[in-house]
Amino acid sequence: MTRRIDIVEVGPRDGLQNDPGNLSTDQKLEFISRLEDSGVKRMESGSFVSPKAVPKMADSAEVFRGLNRSKGVRHIALALNEKGVRRAIDVQADEINFVLVAGEGFGEKNQRMSPQQSADMLAHCAPLVHEANIPLSATVSVAFGDPYTGEVDPAIVANLAAQAQRAGVSEVGLGDTIGVATPWDVRRVIERVRTEAPDVYLRLHFHNTRGAGLANVAAAVETGVDVIDASCGGIGGCPFAPAATGNVATEDVVYTLERAGFETGLDLSKLIETAKWLETALGHPVSSSLSRAGGFPT
Ligand code: COA
Ligand code: ZN
Repeated sequence: MTRRIDIVEVGPRDGLQNDPGNLSTDQKLEFISRLEDSGVKRMESGSFVSPKAVPKMADSAEVFRGLNRSKGVRHIALALNEKGVRRAIDVQADEINFVLVAGEGFGEKNQRMSPQQSADMLAHCAPLVHEANIPLSATVSVAFGDPYTGEVDPAIVANLAAQAQRAGVSEVGLGDTIGVATPWDVRRVIERVRTEAPDVYLRLHFHNTRGAGLANVAAAVETGVDVIDASCGGIGGCPFAPAATGNVATEDVVYTLERAGFETGLDLSKLIETAKWLETALGHPVSSSLSRAGGFPT
């Protein structure tokens, strides 16, 4: 049987939050709709954080209210404190993804929390999400390195994953927010998480900042991970991570996985079309390889 790898599209959130281009709410909705037409079934469609911290996500509530909910797509809202969780519940997000942080330096700059404070905040907010009957996931950001304080101990990542599991999350993402991981780090951190939190269902989130993005996806898939975050066009980055660049590009990931015989359910040519549409909408080229080279020659 063909093994299925589920791609979570993060372009409308991670992708747009730090892009120099500006999309109107209507353009964001068009982006989302194009992604849905490309076969995306699960996507981060907005972020419920302070609009002062991340102005590009200030219209996330309008985006959620404008979504066409009849397409069977699960729209994820990102949150990292109680206010964000309540706002995400208000707009009836299909899933809430809570951001934990594995590094002290990034934690302070990004959300003014230590790693343990972020886990405590999740424990505090989780009952609200469960009461609202909304699926809850978490992402451990800077799981492979912190832009301010450097090395991150895999033990901290594993400990956060275990605490997230105790809070009742259905899936834990490990985020290489600043694109420092190599395939060997990926295996090492996943192994550590599996040792200390054996029942955690994993998702991996890579940025291609140092060129290892696709190799890291391959390493994660080889260890048995079935869910990968990616952004159309390879846009993205975190405003609180200096020199951050984009996520692994959805079309590049789909190409790589499908050539290897995995199934993603996504339509490569529609993704490439959407990446080209994004270039026009954002007013600059995007970084994905497939949007330049196209798919396998026929
Ligand atoms: N949504 C909207 N507004 C929020 C909010 C949320 N989830 N959380 C806090 N705020 C508002 C407060 O109401 C307050 O507004 P005011 O100045 O008008 O009174 C202001 O933000 C500051 O609140 P405070 O609790 O003092 O937060 P802070 O200044 O210590 O900042 C965060 C902490 C978490 C709110 C902020 O750092 C943040 O939103 N970071 C998001 C970073 C991010 O999204 N990174 C990328 C994704 S990982
Ligand atoms: Zn990211």
